[in-house]
Amino acid sequence: MEQQQEVATRPIMTPNDPKDAAVLCRGITKSYGSGETQVKALRGVDLEVRPGELLMLVGPSGCGKTTLISVVAGILDQDEGECLLFGQNLSLLPQHERVRYRGEHIGFVFQAFNLIPSLTAAENAAIPLLINGIPMDEAVQKAALLLASVGLEGREHALPSQLSGGQQQRVAVARALVHSPRLVVCDEPTSALDQVTGIRVMEGLKKLAVNNDRALVIVTHDARIFSFADRIAHMNDGAIERIENNL
Ligand SMILES: Nc1ncnc2c1ncn2[C@@H]1O[C@H](COP(=O)(O)OP(=O)(O)OP(=O)(O)O)[C@@H](O)[C@H]1O
Ligand SMILES: [Mg+2]
Repeated sequence: MEQQQEVATRPIMTPNDPKDAAVLCRGITKSYGSGETQVKALRGVDLEVRPGELLMLVGPSGCGKTTLISVVAGILDQDEGECLLFGQNLSLLPQHERVRYRGEHIGFVFQAFNLIPSLTAAENAAIPLLINGIPMDEAVQKAALLLASVGLEGREHALPSQLSGGQQQRVAVARALVHSPRLVVCDEPTSALDQVTGIRVMEGLKKLAVNNDRALVIVTHDARIFSFADRIAHMNDGAIERIENNL
């Protein structure tokens, strides 16, 4: 892999200053809809992710995992509470600055991949670089390197419809990493992958997305990858019930 980052070499510390946390969420609530059909997806979540940490988020279907990481990544607005990313409260930024911050500093793997059907694998994976003003040729070249690192060498020119589910998922992972973001958030990144490929993708994620000033948050049901986590947060019914150290 070209853009190798050093894996964390110092122990993970609890930051003394909240500004030092990669993610700091306090009292996050989020409901969908209103009246009788209202669903309370988050009921007051506190969460801290430290720089250099790989935190996994687990819990039953519908407990609020996707909602929580969408708030963390600034994709969804919470109703109450506060979420800081590396000391920055995205909710306080004007919309264009918030979009720019996300584009530069956050990588996101969506549960449903969200690839653009009319773009090739390499073009899809290059999107964050293009958003950040990198010229097309350079962006696609870099994206091709990331695709190779997740085992998709030779498939750069394929459209999503010509790729298997697991291959599409790996394009989504490459896209989340291509711009070397400080925070990578993945929603079930190995759900469509066999064991060997899943482990390879996790190794790539850990290598590229975790170091002293980066962090990785992964929602997963996949017990085969739990050993990669530093901590595992267990969620139920819109709240984090406990956090387990996995070191
Ligand atoms: N856009 C939406 N509109 C209405 N309700 C929603 C919406 N998105 C999620 N919900 C509801 O919010 C709750 C939490 O959903 P969420 O997608 O966060 O769960 P999850 O833990 O990611 O589940 P899964 O493991 O199945 O992906 C669920 O009850 C869901 O039905
Ligand atoms: Mg989900």
